[in-house]
Amino acid sequence: MTENITELSQLRRLLEVWRRDGLRVGLVPTMGNLHAGHFSLVRQIRERVDRVVVSIFVNPTQFGAHEDFGCYPRTPEADVAGLVQQGCEAAWMPSIETMYPFGIEQAVRMHLPGISDILEGALRPGHFDGVCSVVTRLLHQVRPDVAAFGRKDYQQLAVIRRMVDDMAIPVEILAGDIVREDNGLAMSSRNQYLSAEERERATGIFHSLCGMRDAAMAGMDSTEVESAAQRSLHHAGFGIDYAALRKPDLTVPEAGESGPRVALIAARLGNTRLIDNLEFSIC
Ligand code: PAF
Repeated sequence: MTENITELSQLRRLLEVWRRDGLRVGLVPTMGNLHAGHFSLVRQIRERVDRVVVSIFVNPTQFGAHEDFGCYPRTPEADVAGLVQQGCEAAWMPSIETMYPFGIEQAVRMHLPGISDILEGALRPGHFDGVCSVVTRLLHQVRPDVAAFGRKDYQQLAVIRRMVDDMAIPVEILAGDIVREDNGLAMSSRNQYLSAEERERATGIFHSLCGMRDAAMAGMDSTEVESAAQRSLHHAGFGIDYAALRKPDLTVPEAGESGPRVALIAARLGNTRLIDNLEFSIC
């Protein structure tokens, strides 16, 4: 049975019972509009814990003034139906007032210098401050043993890991693999903004990521790899925010340096902004 919980007192009572019974708790934070990527996180965390809580909260503090907070897809009934099917024990659906009891303007602010300021952070100032704020709140509310985040939001995962380490928050972070459609398009709630034709063209992002991986593995210099990806995305009709080749901590690799890499792309088709990434290694 999936419990729909909207009050903190109700959540605390449930968690207290689970803890008294010695059960391990997992948290999958989401903004709802759940898709196969979220359900895959639920299945992965289920292997490590006895009870799974999925939070559904469209967090206003991580959206910029001109971003899609107002029209972000909200589908609570379908989400809960999906969670029932997954056998998830609790859907935690707090109000804005519960999440930010003193109001958004008065809320504690969190900023992780460096990693929050590059790539997504440079284009969406304050975005990761909002993510850190809400994730910290969720971790305090649920106090999970394990919390799962998707690798699709690669930088978000890196920021959260750093925050958890820096603040010594006692939680294990589980990184869920990217779930792709058959044509390579990474699953995302924002895919539904795409027309059928744009959806097909959006696969160009995955193809460019594969091109970046192949070129880097063949020895091409990082800046050339990035320029080539930008050219191919431009020809495919994308507006490009970045195509970047980085080390796992998102720093820039030295010329000729081997080791693990991640290629990251943020690009726009019409009004829809898509992000994706691909991890690989250079020997
Ligand atoms: O990845 C998301 O859906 C959100 O950024 C998160 C982690 C749930 C915080 O609002």
